[in-house]
Amino acid sequence: MPSRSSRTGHPRTARRGSADPLRIRRYRPGDRAFYARSIERLQDHLRALDRTGMVQRPPGFGARYARVALPLIRRYHGRILVAERDGRPVGFVAAYVRPRNRMRDLELRPGRHGFVMDLYVAPSVRGQGIGTALLRAAEGFLAERGCVRLFLDVFAPNGRAHSLYRRLGYTDFGILMTAAVARPRATDRSGRYSGRSSK
Ligand SMILES: CC(C)(COP(=O)(O)OP(=O)(O)OC[C@H]1O[C@@H](n2cnc3c(N)ncnc32)[C@H](O)[C@@H]1OP(=O)(O)O)[C@@H](O)C(=O)NCCC(=O)NCCS
Repeated sequence: MPSRSSRTGHPRTARRGSADPLRIRRYRPGDRAFYARSIERLQDHLRALDRTGMVQRPPGFGARYARVALPLIRRYHGRILVAERDGRPVGFVAAYVRPRNRMRDLELRPGRHGFVMDLYVAPSVRGQGIGTALLRAAEGFLAERGCVRLFLDVFAPNGRAHSLYRRLGYTDFGILMTAAVARPRATDRSGRYSGRSSK
């Protein structure tokens, strides 16, 4: 597992691409509006890439997402790290320690696993190493929490993020597939399924 960050509880300065130093710090309550807005932009990004029509961004999405995600991240000993430049937030990463799961404990080698939930960088500052710095900081945080392996999901059409993760040492592991299914009809003569009334 690639983990080379220093202690992530402290502000870090870094990175190529700008004279303004980048600082990575813990999320604080005043970041909530930035977080919610970024989540909406991330969702818009995914929706624009989606060919199935499944991805949606209903009204109030960012605020609603924050209401669910923030307690979940707390419960699973996670953290949101915010990248700041010139005193303004420009990106974030959210990560937590995956809760134990009896089935997974059976199927996978034992050991604490971390999960990187979301990564986002504002469009105007992309390509400057901020996403990389955020991910490395999340890795450092999770390693400090005792994680020996990290997982993250990437939306299949999000090629740019996928290649970034690959470049940073992540390996494809499982593919989530989807299909629309027709509602079964009781009069289906094919014999494949007739156990249910369509009424
Ligand atoms: C994926 C994302 C977090 C990467 O952030 P970033 O700050 O651009 O990442 P980095 O600069 O560290 O590295 C990105 C690499 O991809 C390239 N890249 C990614 N997005 C880019 C963009 N919009 N413009 C130019 N280059 C881009 C960079 O050139 C860089 O390549 P390099 O390391 O060879 O220089 C960012 O593009 C983003 O927020 N995308 C929308 C949300 C998203 O897809 N999140 C991931 C969900 S799984």
